[in-house]
Amino acid sequence: MLLKLNNIHKSYNTDQGGPVKKVLEGISMELDQGENMAILGPSGSGKSTLLNIIGALDRPDSGDVVFEGNAINDYTEDQLAGFRNQQVGFIFQSHHLLPQCSVLENVLVPTLPLKDPKLKKECFERAQELIKEVGLWEQKDQLPGTISGGECQRVAVIRALINKPKLLLADEPTGSLDRKNAQGIASLLMELNKGFNTALIIVTHSLEIGAQMSRAFDLVDGQLVKNK
Ligand SMILES: Nc1ncnc2c1ncn2[C@@H]1O[C@H](COP(=O)(O)OP(=O)(O)OP(=O)(O)O)[C@@H](O)[C@H]1O
Ligand SMILES: [Mg+2]
Repeated sequence: MLLKLNNIHKSYNTDQGGPVKKVLEGISMELDQGENMAILGPSGSGKSTLLNIIGALDRPDSGDVVFEGNAINDYTEDQLAGFRNQQVGFIFQSHHLLPQCSVLENVLVPTLPLKDPKLKKECFERAQELIKEVGLWEQKDQLPGTISGGECQRVAVIRALINKPKLLLADEPTGSLDRKNAQGIASLLMELNKGFNTALIIVTHSLEIGAQMSRAFDLVDGQLVKNK
């Protein structure tokens, strides 16, 4: 078992003294290494909140996130930083590439904290392989502003993979793309999921993409409901 969620609850305080907004009300799920799943559901239902909790960008009010048998709630800040950087890859709706850095440099950003020259060299080679694999070799020295939105999102996908994470978390990764590019990114994510055995959780509004995943859930009223 790669990931297990036990009874996750999360609420937000609205205005001071205002009512508490319950977002997640007892989420439990399991994901094996290399598996993939989609999370769908209405806007504001808590999909990003859940993904952020899984990726340790946010903490639940109660419940456990268990990764490879360890409850990440018990991690120190240093361990959490390592978890975010090494074990998880994030992809968001907008690509968040650094505009002043080339495609290749952007892919290498998550490896900047690495000190070991051997590891750095391996990452450099891996970045080049991944860039070739997604068909961007010709553009590897270009700035994000000079390539298309779909191409930028491909760069964001391989940047998320550069540290060989075991889990890829994608929050509406196709939300800003047209249908053809959206399908391209979805296919790429699935190829990488299979090829590298990287588990994938994708939040999407697209029923079409949801249907292509092995499992799909709706997040409704704070609960995950299986729809496939
Ligand atoms: N930091 C915060 N403080 C207060 N309320 C928040 C905070 N973050 C999220 N919320 C609220 O929690 C609810 C769930 O938000 P979330 O972003 O998880 O929804 P979502 O399902 O990802 O929506 P979308 O599909 O629009 O991205 C929303 O009502 C949102 O306003
Ligand atoms: Mg969201």
